[in-house]
Amino acid sequence: MKKYIEEESKENLNTEMLAAISKLTRAGFLLVIVLILLFWQNYSHFFGSKNDGGQVVQTALPMLSPAAQKGKDLFKNNCASCHNRDMQSNLTGPALGGLQERWAAYPRTDLYQWIRNSQALIDAGHPRAQELWNKWKPVIMTPSSNLKDEDIEAILTYVEEQYAAR
Ligand code: HEC
Repeated sequence: MKKYIEEESKENLNTEMLAAISKLTRAGFLLVIVLILLFWQNYSHFFGSKNDGGQVVQTALPMLSPAAQKGKDLFKNNCASCHNRDMQSNLTGPALGGLQERWAAYPRTDLYQWIRNSQALIDAGHPRAQELWNKWKPVIMTPSSNLKDEDIEAILTYVEEQYAAR
């Protein structure tokens, strides 16, 4: 009889222990899942997750038209030493952004002439040329007599596009 009781309580103990272990295992399993979910939510970007809302990251570089691209090279070689590339801040020379409006009252060829030889246009008494000179003298803009009409047009296109993309 005594032996039987002993056997029975041992068995009880075993079932209780098994139940406890299985409870613990279940709790542990749930905990691990929760931890994995939390971790994934916070750190998924470290693993190059594709879950970025499908957005393509765009670079800030403006796309230039082919004409403006040609103008950019000409500008770099002939004008950038004095005129700021952002087209909105002054440097040795004034910011060029919006310049076509400032010359709109005059024939297009006046602007060509100015860029090829500004001093000649100042000497000829051109109103816009004199206005500029009075503000910026004694800094003389380097003549670019080698530039063809289409070169100057390309530069003007570049100035406008660059200014618009600011
Ligand atoms: C050595 C410096 C220098 C270089 C190089 C230069 N410029 Fe200038 N630019 C000036 C200065 C200074 C003025 C202001 C007028 C003056 O002092 O003659 C000016 C004025 C101008 C203006 C008048 C802007 C307005 O608001 O009306 C234009 C247009 C211009 N430059 C275009 C150019 C272009 C295009 C080139 C290249 C092909 C160029 N410049 C190269 C110094 C320079």
